[in-house]
Amino acid sequence: MSNNLWGLTLFIVGFSLLTSCQPESYADISSPDGKTKVHFAITEDGQATYQVAYSGEELIAPSAMGFTLSEQNAFEKGLSIESIRQSSYDETWEQVWGEVSSIRNHYIQAEVSLRNPENLKLKIVFRVYNNGVGFRYLFPEQQGLQQFDILEEHTHFNLAQPDKAWWIPGNPDSYEYSYQNSRVSEIDSANTPITIQCNNGVYLSLHEAALTDYAGMRLRKSNDHISGLKSDLVPWPDGIKVKANTPFKTPWRTIQIGNTPGELITNYLILNLNEPNKLENTDWIKPLKYVGVWWSLHLGVETWIQGDRHGANTENVKRYIDFAAQNSIEGVLAEGWNQGWENWGTGEPFDFVTPYPDFDIEAVLAYANYKNISIIGHHENGGNVESYEKHLISALDELQSQGIHHLKTGYAGGIVPKGQHHHGQWMVRHYRRVVEEAAKRQISINAHEPIKPTGLRRTYPNMMTREGVRGMEWNAWSEGNTPEHHTVLPFTRMLAGPIDYTPGIFDILYRRYDRSRERWHPNDKGGARVHTTLAKQLALYVVLYSPWQMAADMVENYSQQPAFQFIRDVPVDWDETKVINGEIGEFVTIARRNGPDWFVGSVTDEQPRTITFSLDFLESGQTYEIITYADAEETNLEHNPEAISISKSSKTKDDQITLHLGSGGGAAIQLKPI
Ligand code: NOJ
Ligand code: CA
Repeated sequence: MSNNLWGLTLFIVGFSLLTSCQPESYADISSPDGKTKVHFAITEDGQATYQVAYSGEELIAPSAMGFTLSEQNAFEKGLSIESIRQSSYDETWEQVWGEVSSIRNHYIQAEVSLRNPENLKLKIVFRVYNNGVGFRYLFPEQQGLQQFDILEEHTHFNLAQPDKAWWIPGNPDSYEYSYQNSRVSEIDSANTPITIQCNNGVYLSLHEAALTDYAGMRLRKSNDHISGLKSDLVPWPDGIKVKANTPFKTPWRTIQIGNTPGELITNYLILNLNEPNKLENTDWIKPLKYVGVWWSLHLGVETWIQGDRHGANTENVKRYIDFAAQNSIEGVLAEGWNQGWENWGTGEPFDFVTPYPDFDIEAVLAYANYKNISIIGHHENGGNVESYEKHLISALDELQSQGIHHLKTGYAGGIVPKGQHHHGQWMVRHYRRVVEEAAKRQISINAHEPIKPTGLRRTYPNMMTREGVRGMEWNAWSEGNTPEHHTVLPFTRMLAGPIDYTPGIFDILYRRYDRSRERWHPNDKGGARVHTTLAKQLALYVVLYSPWQMAADMVENYSQQPAFQFIRDVPVDWDETKVINGEIGEFVTIARRNGPDWFVGSVTDEQPRTITFSLDFLESGQTYEIITYADAEETNLEHNPEAISISKSSKTKDDQITLHLGSGGGAAIQLKPI
């Protein structure tokens, strides 16, 4: 992260108190540039409401806030304002790793103190940014409210001028869906982030930040407003939404605003609303590219469980280590290394420390060490978190003693104890405990079947990436992901945080190279395949941000593939990110810089397109060598998706680039100063 935009000398922290006023029934809060405005008001019957305007137009119509707690207590009606304090804050902070090296956190804050008819206290804190709004509730320590339950959160989002929304269903256990595009009024229940295009051309993303000890928020249709959505928290088995003790803070409810869809991608409000890095030493936190015994398991070529085709055997994993060492790949994953995979799907526990007999873990670790490759640990628990909680400390200790710094976790199955959900408070606490315990042992996490990202990576930069998306694996055993999917994800799921999508499948039609016979098999997957061209697979390394990027195919499928050079060269950590163009569900082009080098990824849906853009983001007076990996003339999504054209040219910032993207296609470009 050299060469950053702001430079260390510009690191400023400012905090100033603007006003402190006497009881009022409303507050107006404006962003530093005055464009975003929040109007907070208490209605005649004492309900708290907020309203959001941007560039003089209402985006969120007056919307209710508040809670129903158990035991007759509520912060719903009859509220009065005790005080309102406004302040401003301006700071630029450095990311340990990320899509950009430094981020400005500049907002106006209002802290509103309220009382309910029972004289209980609640505070609402608003932070108003030039590009969005965050607000959270605080339950102060007080007489009469110590231990309490939240039965219902009443936060509403009444969209004033919604046109279209992109969303996934509000399943309490999974985010692995294709995005739907509909009117807001057609949403019954959705998980966040939800992206909304407004009638005036402004784009919004509704989500949450700093979800650390609370239930995940879904949004469901509200009866208050034609385009109204309301908070719908994932419950505990007893129906209670949140169990709490004062003092207690909820996550931030967030509204990100962009004049273009691309502005949502470079909006860092979610990170800004999280607490700063808590880890003193972060030298051990390393972004990486990885390969592994993985895709073969999903295709059924090899197995997780012990047997003739067991993938994670010593020899096979050494072959992956050799490949990684020869190809600028830093990590190797070996799923199915441990005992217990026979239990997957039954709810019975896995064993997180005992290898299968044909996996000589010591030999593998020694070999990886010798080749300077990081072995990635894997803890799949199949959803049995009761058992994982019990064994967590010893399993993490074991990784630490083995010198392992990267861990992929998995929760593929219904949660044990029964009745708990992946996205409920109990699991939110669990996921966070794993991150904290892993940090103590210098281990970074990539969680599958996770809780959605809400910016915790700022506080714990060892929480590096996660699934929580309909990822590559779906192409192995379902009808697969549509070409459109990759043009929606950057504007939806990616706004929440990094995605372990696992791109890089080169054998797109699953002809599978048979190593023993040195020939290709016919596809025996009943038509299953990846629905992109090869060039688009490369583009995804730039388009879908993750500090861990897998080259997901079986390594033999990379041999004699000139296109693999792009994966060797592409970084996984960036100083700058620019969205060149994009329309949600149609296409997107993103440029990212690492030191002096730029990389561009461009992807389209099923529609072929010609995309022209200026290179004006390059440095002046500098000539760049450009290597372009693009769909070739003969590339055809159905019959010839693996055809790729690799070409070289040289250009400066005064030039333009024109790309021809085929149906389901894309392009990846490397730009190096010469
Ligand atoms: C689902 C995960 O998403 C996938 O990556 C993993 O291979 C399987 N579970 C088994 O752990
Ligand atoms: Ca999964």
